[in-house]
Amino acid sequence: MNFTSDNAAPAHPAIIEALARANVGHAASYGADAMMERVTARLRDVFEAPDAAVHLVATGTAANALALACLCPPWATIFCHRQAHIEEDEGGAPEFFTAGAKLTLVDGPDARIDPDRLDASMAHANRLGVHNIQRGALSITNVTEAGSVYTSEQVARLADIAKRWNLPVHMDGARFANALVATGATPAEMTWKAGVDALSFGGTKNGLLGVEAVILFDPEKSWEFELRRKRGGHLFSKHRYLSAQMDAYLTDDLWMDLARAANARAADLARGITDAGARLLHPADANMIFAEWPRAAHRALRDAGAKYYFWPGDHSLDGPDEAPLAARLVCGWCTTETEVGEFLAAMKTSPAIA
Ligand SMILES: Cc1ncc(COP(=O)(O)O)c(C=O)c1O
Repeated sequence: MNFTSDNAAPAHPAIIEALARANVGHAASYGADAMMERVTARLRDVFEAPDAAVHLVATGTAANALALACLCPPWATIFCHRQAHIEEDEGGAPEFFTAGAKLTLVDGPDARIDPDRLDASMAHANRLGVHNIQRGALSITNVTEAGSVYTSEQVARLADIAKRWNLPVHMDGARFANALVATGATPAEMTWKAGVDALSFGGTKNGLLGVEAVILFDPEKSWEFELRRKRGGHLFSKHRYLSAQMDAYLTDDLWMDLARAANARAADLARGITDAGARLLHPADANMIFAEWPRAAHRALRDAGAKYYFWPGDHSLDGPDEAPLAARLVCGWCTTETEVGEFLAAMKTSPAIA
């Protein structure tokens, strides 16, 4: 019963098998391996983007920061949601890799950028010319940090605003597969057809050991990305082990199947906890649930061995039995129906739950 994070989940066995297969003999280093060619071809195919450039890195932070550095100069600002991972959880990496670009925070419910506020924020920027930070790029996270999902139409609406100012658009897709299967959009509809120029295509949270692809729909930035990745210390010498993971991830739509499984378990869990009296704090659109319920039920769950984070993390279990406490529950590709069932059974043992 571990709902702490999709990062806490193991890698899928098919990925480990692919690594074992790749671990034979010599292979060209630094991304020149034959498997990387196949990965590029497969992603171009998946995204219906025959010219897209594809590069692999081992962390989502590197994917985001390097992609944004290619899109936004040091004297400009990246518009993003106040709760964006690039703002809250990347230790200043986007600012560091862009050599000082700023982040301009935009609000909106459920961690989705509100289009009117984005419009106003972009219009307000750079009103004094040389004295102001310049408009640089827009970054959208899908699945959002609150577990909600943007439809491709919602992405297009935000991207249209950015395009009015000639700004490139980045998508943090650490959970891109989960967003995609939640909406039914095609990869192309969710990205370049909606105006996205660069995608951090996540794999780590969805069954890989540690690989994210940066997909540049405009290949003109490809060489710059390569130079920045090397300079930033993110070019793997034994790159075949990154390629092998991504290759297996894309084989027979494994990436979609794993995301479907995680989303389905989260839907079961969300339904079960709301039936038991918990209150959802955000729409549980994909594989993350934010909800609150009485402390007594949290205690019962802890006693039963359930693991998850209070959210925000500085919350304490101390307090009256009936006082609500917020939590984040994340389902991964490996979350089972049994685990969900056990969690719901433990929740219902508490008399404090309505
Ligand atoms: C929305 C989002 N973006 C990016 C990342 C990638 O972070 P990391 O650098 O830990 O792989 C995460 C991981 O928590 C995330 O939730």
